[in-house]
Amino acid sequence: MATKTSNTSDQNSSASDSTQKTSENSTMKVDNATVKKEEMKNAPLHKFFVDALKDIYYAEDAIVSALDKMQEAATTEELKDAFEDHQLQTKKHLSRLEKVFRLIDEKPEKKKCDAIEGIIKEGEEVIKSTETGSMTRDVALIIAAQKVEHYEIATYGGLVQLAITMGHDKAADLLDKTLQEEEDTDYNLTEIAETHINFEAEQED
Ligand SMILES: [Fe+2]
Ligand SMILES: [Fe+2]
Repeated sequence: MATKTSNTSDQNSSASDSTQKTSENSTMKVDNATVKKEEMKNAPLHKFFVDALKDIYYAEDAIVSALDKMQEAATTEELKDAFEDHQLQTKKHLSRLEKVFRLIDEKPEKKKCDAIEGIIKEGEEVIKSTETGSMTRDVALIIAAQKVEHYEIATYGGLVQLAITMGHDKAADLLDKTLQEEEDTDYNLTEIAETHINFEAEQED
């Protein structure tokens, strides 16, 4: 009610008063924007979103290194090339995430992701337990790589929807681009396995 009274009195004020009122209003607008930003940053869903971004930022970085080892360990040129291509895409995923952090006014930071550490460790174990130069090695590497992709697909799928819900449209578009690339990679790996690698592995002694 107090606000209403003061508005009424403002309407009757002189021209010079109204100039002053305009500058007061713009200060208030700035203050409101700051308050809104602070409110957004303190919202539990925003905090969760930022944490999840930090987790996948850590994961993407770990995947870049893992893909080096997987490329080296692969038997066929086809799989080596697929890993090399996806490593380039993964580097792009990192820079997209940096943009997403900036868009929501947060600093890009990594937070240790135990899930990806475990999946990568499992990948290292299949390298040890399969013979160098064998097709069984490639079969195992494809499955290990698909576990990584599925972790990423689950993460990005959820993050795209959260970004849309919270009105971060540009961030949602960037996350969706990465999601598409993870899905395409998963599909390509299935293609490689099913066109010949699985069959050739089946012939191995
Ligand atoms: Fe990725
Ligand atoms: Fe990926």
